[in-house]
Amino acid sequence: MRPQTLAHVSDLHFGLSEENDLAAEALCRGLLLARVDHVAVTGDITHRGRRDEMTAFQRAFAPFIETHRLTAVPGNHDRMGDNAGVHLMEGRSVDVSVAEGLFLVQVDSTAPHNRSAIAAHGVLTPWVVEEVERAVRHAPEDTIVAVLLHHHVLPLPEESWAERVSSLFGWPYAAELESGSALLQSIRGRCDLVLHGHRHVPRASRIWAREDRPLDIYNAGSSTELGRVRVFSHQSGTLLRRPQWLMAFENGAAAMAEEEAAPLRRRPVPRTGDVRLRAAG
Ligand SMILES: [Fe+2]
Ligand SMILES: [Fe+2]
Repeated sequence: MRPQTLAHVSDLHFGLSEENDLAAEALCRGLLLARVDHVAVTGDITHRGRRDEMTAFQRAFAPFIETHRLTAVPGNHDRMGDNAGVHLMEGRSVDVSVAEGLFLVQVDSTAPHNRSAIAAHGVLTPWVVEEVERAVRHAPEDTIVAVLLHHHVLPLPEESWAERVSSLFGWPYAAELESGSALLQSIRGRCDLVLHGHRHVPRASRIWAREDRPLDIYNAGSSTELGRVRVFSHQSGTLLRRPQWLMAFENGAAAMAEEEAAPLRRRPVPRTGDVRLRAAG
């Protein structure tokens, strides 16, 4: 099998502004130019959950959607307005999408409370965690196993004054998924990547670094705000290198760059039931 590529796109927020939507379209052109094999989109595709915003996304990313090379999960913004994200996983909470060299477990971490713009936090029920565990058990060998979901599984720093106030009052809006660490434990040793969005500042961390199959957790950030997306290279179930950033330019050009951040931050290993890992800094 030749080396394959997987791009991680998130928080496009179609409908936010004309400039934003043009940036999303430029990103898709960049992905096509780079001949990316598959695209994972981890939610907040739309800004207000409107059908016309979802249609704009489907139009912009048609080259990947029409060739079955795009896998998406909904984000909290997709539950607002017309609830445009409801069809992304056809009503299922957990689903599996298989592409060449990839076993992608889609997880819907949104909930009805996300219809309110200020109730942005996600939910994972114990049943969903069990379903994810069951799904990864069926993943073939020599395949990259990735869990795709919108909300963050480990604590991340607040990104705005509103999130800081929320955390100060003990409100859940900026908090990680309450069952995030339980989810990680359920896929331990059977999964290579957790890809999420929701927080608009990109992050990367690694847990169980010394085990045979470490788990890398990536927050894409908002791809349109950043104007770039991570691209993973893999072959026969192995990630070939650290991901590179693909940058898209308005003039239609695209370029790849190394991730400028420090090496993957090692995170504390979550224990079963330890749902409140301390802040990552
Ligand atoms: Fe977002
Ligand atoms: Fe979000």
